Amino acid sequence: MRILFLGDVVGKAGRLAVKQFLPQIKEELRLDAVLANGENIAGGIGMTCETLDELFGAGVDFVTSGNHVWRHKEIFSRLEKDRRIIRPANYPEGAPGRGHAVLTLGDGRRIAVLNMLGNTYMEPLPCPFRTALSWVESPELEDIPVRLVDFHAEATSEKKTMGWALDGKVSAVLGTHTHVQTADAQLLPRGTAYLTDLGMCGVEQSSLGMDFDAVFERFLTKIPTAFKPAKGEISLNGAYLDIDDATGQAKEIRIIREHCPKWRLETSAEQGMPD
Ligand code: FE2
Repeated sequence: MRILFLGDVVGKAGRLAVKQFLPQIKEELRLDAVLANGENIAGGIGMTCETLDELFGAGVDFVTSGNHVWRHKEIFSRLEKDRRIIRPANYPEGAPGRGHAVLTLGDGRRIAVLNMLGNTYMEPLPCPFRTALSWVESPELEDIPVRLVDFHAEATSEKKTMGWALDGKVSAVLGTHTHVQTADAQLLPRGTAYLTDLGMCGVEQSSLGMDFDAVFERFLTKIPTAFKPAKGEISLNGAYLDIDDATGQAKEIRIIREHCPKWRLETSAEQGMPD
């Protein structure tokens, strides 16, 4: 099974990157499914129904998220009813939506997806390791060998350890949240594909997708400033996975990193899009 998993899609620039690059990548890699972390698709933080629909319209089949998913309240009911979107599974009971789901492809093949938030330097949520280990043991996964984990976490040590803990139990452990793609795409000893961070879809000359000015001001003064999404040349970052349908073992993981100076925000058709 050929899968593309895109890193955090940030704001209008990120959505534009997906629209611009995805059709060609889909064709070249003959993809069966496209997944993306969409926690920042709306104005660089959170997601709205409109921006989600735009992402699905651009060819994304399934959306994971992270700590920013709660930013826009309109998404709460969408998280409840749309099974193509998940939020981190280790939020306490009562949080809207679900932390894992199964994506069924047109030909009936299935992909189980789990989303989790790291604990280190993040909110003190229930343990992601225990969450993951109970998920892989759950009866619903018995006949679904293809399993993907989006571990939305800050610390490299936590992400690497999650890869080790799930090696041989899932097809891939992919990190998100830092917005910077790491160079460690690898197949772990028991057949799990691993990458510490998928990177970001958006404006690379930015602070994680945000305009430098306000971020710099905040670093200098320590006074809260309103961040706004950066404008400029767009990039698309993620990973390509080839997974054995029958065993769920990864055969290949390869980073995807596309950049095109021709495609900038504020140049043409995208002006009517929401941030
Ligand atoms: Fe995040």
